[in-house]
Amino acid sequence: MQASGHDQLSVLFVCLGNICRSPMAEGAFRAAAARHGLECHVDSAGTASYHIGNRPDPRAIATARDRGVDIGGQAARQIAREDFFRFTHILAMDEANLAGIRAQTPRDKTARIALLMDVLEDRRGQSIPDPYYGDEAQFASVWDEIAEAAEGLALRFAREGIHAVL
Ligand code: 4NP
Repeated sequence: MQASGHDQLSVLFVCLGNICRSPMAEGAFRAAAARHGLECHVDSAGTASYHIGNRPDPRAIATARDRGVDIGGQAARQIAREDFFRFTHILAMDEANLAGIRAQTPRDKTARIALLMDVLEDRRGQSIPDPYYGDEAQFASVWDEIAEAAEGLALRFAREGIHAVL
């Protein structure tokens, strides 16, 4: 199926380990999509294999839970070839993740690939910092950035349609 043939919005969020940032992005975007009445498939993955099968980091789970979002049921996985065809949008948390994704992008991919922050006009090109070696305060500030982008993304999909965004 060509990219233009995808009528079902499907978004994959990608970070390094798939235990901190992208699980929070998956949860935040699910909540934002529900608020905007969007029907979509949402998932997350990592470029690295270290944490395959693991639950999100307990700090990420707690940060999301404190904001009313349950991400405790997620299990980490690594990005795979079929993701480039199955998803309409693949959104990386930082420049290194984006480079890792680009290095394995099939020539005939159909997904649109960008940084998550590209969705916000005034944050284009910016990365979400890796909170893994940080403290709770860093998880809180990472959540705030991710949640703002997730809300902006859902709003744009609702207003502009899935083929017009990024
Ligand atoms: P994430 O954070 O990419 O936001 O899931 C990290 C998780 C684990 C590691 C690095 C970053 N790690 O080196 O194990």
